[in-house]
Amino acid sequence: MQIFIDSANEKDIRYLMKQGVVDGVTTNPTIMFKDGVYDVEKGAKRLASLIGERPFSVEVTSNDHEEMVAQGRVFATWGPNIVVKIPVVNEFGEPSLDVINELTSEGVAVNATAILSFNQAMLATKAGAAYISIFAGRIADEGNDPVVTIRNVRHWLDEWDYSAKIIVGSVRTAMDIQNAALSGAHIITVPPPFFSKMTDHKYTRDTVRQFNRDAEKALSEIATVRAMGAASGD
Ligand code: E4P
Repeated sequence: MQIFIDSANEKDIRYLMKQGVVDGVTTNPTIMFKDGVYDVEKGAKRLASLIGERPFSVEVTSNDHEEMVAQGRVFATWGPNIVVKIPVVNEFGEPSLDVINELTSEGVAVNATAILSFNQAMLATKAGAAYISIFAGRIADEGNDPVVTIRNVRHWLDEWDYSAKIIVGSVRTAMDIQNAALSGAHIITVPPPFFSKMTDHKYTRDTVRQFNRDAEKALSEIATVRAMGAASGD
């Protein structure tokens, strides 16, 4: 299973790359704006090159299908690891499957995004998307269980031998990450603040504190024994 960072914050991406836990990065227009990346071309090129060969998702920003395809073609020239995010429908509910199909047939890697249901995932996969972004938090916002959707999509992909990978995004709690990992997500895209929540634990700190204190005591014991030996001429 892979872990992506759901962020356009260069400092956070650099920090997490050093931890060795980053397999890719996802963004969307809201994340770009929140992280101060207003010049999307400049920012995406910089971040995509920073993460080397790992995939970097950048999202189209139009309701018009021809414009989506045109943007996707341009984005794909920004780096060999660029993945173009296409919302499964536009804001009027018109399916973007033709856009996914067109870009995929041209060799552009597509991440079908804003997926909230099994049927959306199934059709985006059929249209050729390499990645299927299931928005766990937004599924739960509507009173549905994202675990069921993730599990069913994974089962269907495996059953019919599709190579599309599930990215679980829209993470709202540390528990969402655990649930996604255990229900068949190939990838979870995690906002940077969750990494410390995932690693830190009060009792682990106490445990390490105890070990450090006892190691200090052992060193001081050795020093005392040596000092006594020196004083007695041994
Ligand atoms: C994932 O690809 C999306 O960018 C992101 O996780 C959406 O999360 P949100 O529901 O918090 O906006």
